[in-house]
Amino acid sequence: MKRQDIVPTQNERLMREGDFIVSKTDTKGLITYGNPIFIEFSGYTEAELIGSQHNIIRHPDMPRAAFKLVWDTIQSGKEVFAYVKNMARDGSCYWVLAHVAPDFDPDGRIVGYTSVRRCPRRSAIEALIPVYQRMLDAEKAAGARDAIAAGSRVLADLLTEKGMTYEELVLAL
Ligand SMILES: Cc1cc2nc3c(=O)[nH]c(=O)nc-3n(C[C@H](O)[C@H](O)[C@H](O)COP(=O)(O)O)c2cc1C
Repeated sequence: MKRQDIVPTQNERLMREGDFIVSKTDTKGLITYGNPIFIEFSGYTEAELIGSQHNIIRHPDMPRAAFKLVWDTIQSGKEVFAYVKNMARDGSCYWVLAHVAPDFDPDGRIVGYTSVRRCPRRSAIEALIPVYQRMLDAEKAAGARDAIAAGSRVLADLLTEKGMTYEELVLAL
């Protein structure tokens, strides 16, 4: 089943308090490991997940600029926190608070990435939904070529308005 063929539904699965969804990728974002909860929430088998691009669980409601921020940050060797709406194989969604960080070899080279996700606060999701929607609308209006720049501008304007960095905003929610 290709992700593009999955129809998103209104069904939402909730992470349980104490759940940790863990996955690892190589430097290109190909999945190299998923813990049992990752496999459970995704709805795919381990064999389907390993070697697939991590965007296999990308939800169409997520703005592209959010992932650009994640990739820019981890590729520069830093960790990042982000709220992400994911899509399972059956089209249902699940929100996570993700921590994504690079894995280094002994020489300090990035050899892959690890993400650990936990149950997000409902109030944080409610606060973020309109922000992501505004970013997504701007991306759609801008067209594919300028989408990321348009989505990033919406986020940057919001942060300027609040006088916060992205990390401060995420951790304050
Ligand atoms: C360790 C790691 C974990 C990731 N976890 C997710 C995730 O849970 N959901 C998601 O949509 N993208 C995740 N991504 C980002 C995807 O690689 C991808 O950039 C994103 O789904 C957007 O897809 P696109 O780049 O094809 O537009 C992760 C990336 C890395 C490196």
